[in-house]
Amino acid sequence: MGEQTRELISSLDGGARLDATMFERIINDCDSDDLAFAMKRANAKRKEQFGDEIFIRGLVEFTNYCRNDCLYCGIRRSNQQVERYRLTAEQIMECLEQGYSAEIRTLVLQGGEDTYFNDARVCALVSEIKSRHPDIAVTLSIGERPYESYMLFREAGADRYLLRHETATEWHYAKLHPSSQTLASRMECLRNLKALGFQVGCGMMVGSPFQTAACLAQDLAFIQDFRPHMVGIGPFIPHKATPFANESAGTVEQTLLMLSLVRLMHPKVLLPSTTALATLHPGGRLKGIMAGANVVMPNLSPLSVRGNYTLYDNKANTGLEAVEGLAALSRELDTIGCTISKGRGDAPA
Ligand code: 5AD
Repeated sequence: MGEQTRELISSLDGGARLDATMFERIINDCDSDDLAFAMKRANAKRKEQFGDEIFIRGLVEFTNYCRNDCLYCGIRRSNQQVERYRLTAEQIMECLEQGYSAEIRTLVLQGGEDTYFNDARVCALVSEIKSRHPDIAVTLSIGERPYESYMLFREAGADRYLLRHETATEWHYAKLHPSSQTLASRMECLRNLKALGFQVGCGMMVGSPFQTAACLAQDLAFIQDFRPHMVGIGPFIPHKATPFANESAGTVEQTLLMLSLVRLMHPKVLLPSTTALATLHPGGRLKGIMAGANVVMPNLSPLSVRGNYTLYDNKANTGLEAVEGLAALSRELDTIGCTISKGRGDAPA
């Protein structure tokens, strides 16, 4: 059993392409020793590519208005229990300056799909950030838009775009989203973003409702083919005001396995150790790094709104994941021999 799993993991490490059936076999057969084996290889791969350096991204959750109704998400349109907010341009620039002083050189503007932030408003924000600090990379994470909008964002100076594919399996996508949202449209957006020259991130939740090993295997096969620059992977965590309130969360172990496999298949990929993983387990962030992750995204949002950007319950929002905790994060990383990089942290060529 373990022998075969390790052989598959080793061949991925050696640069082999695996098909979905092989990924499914790894997922189904992986025991704790196999996981430790995968993590060790993936951690070594991370070190080979990036040495001791971990990249940091300042995350600004600038609006929690959303026109979508994803069944898993706490800021879905149907949730009337959440207090909605939008940061002003001034507030966003304050976040930027706070991050810049803390030597953060990537700003991630993340929000719900908020129609108030039309193309002109988004472009104005991007241009303003870039003119204040040309050495900062701007990442957008604001969902699905037409090709033309993405083109305008790019022209305004945006460098990267995060759009998790959520699941590469059609029927599973339909279980997680209303019928107005389709996997085809999601995938078209990802292709458009890539064609426009963004550094692009896709990704999925681990342990989302109805997910099977075959679904995760499809996700891995998709990531292998799509060759994204970044991959966001975190455990699903239920949110009380969603239809999935009573579903169980994904596991730390399975999330770590996915991180490891993605690091092994794409040695240069930018791979965050997510807040969701840190929420599930106090040592989650470091475990993520020891599974091959090389990015941490401290929260730069104003304290007054942080409690309202709740995609899932019990989201970690006071300690090391926040910008106030950078020194502590640095000490935490030091315990595993890592340091915070001061650069923009672009995807290596
Ligand atoms: N648990 C974990 N992750 C979630 N996301 C949304 N809702 C949840 C949840 N309940 C993730 C989605 C989305 C990203 C911004 O957050 O994958 O793309």
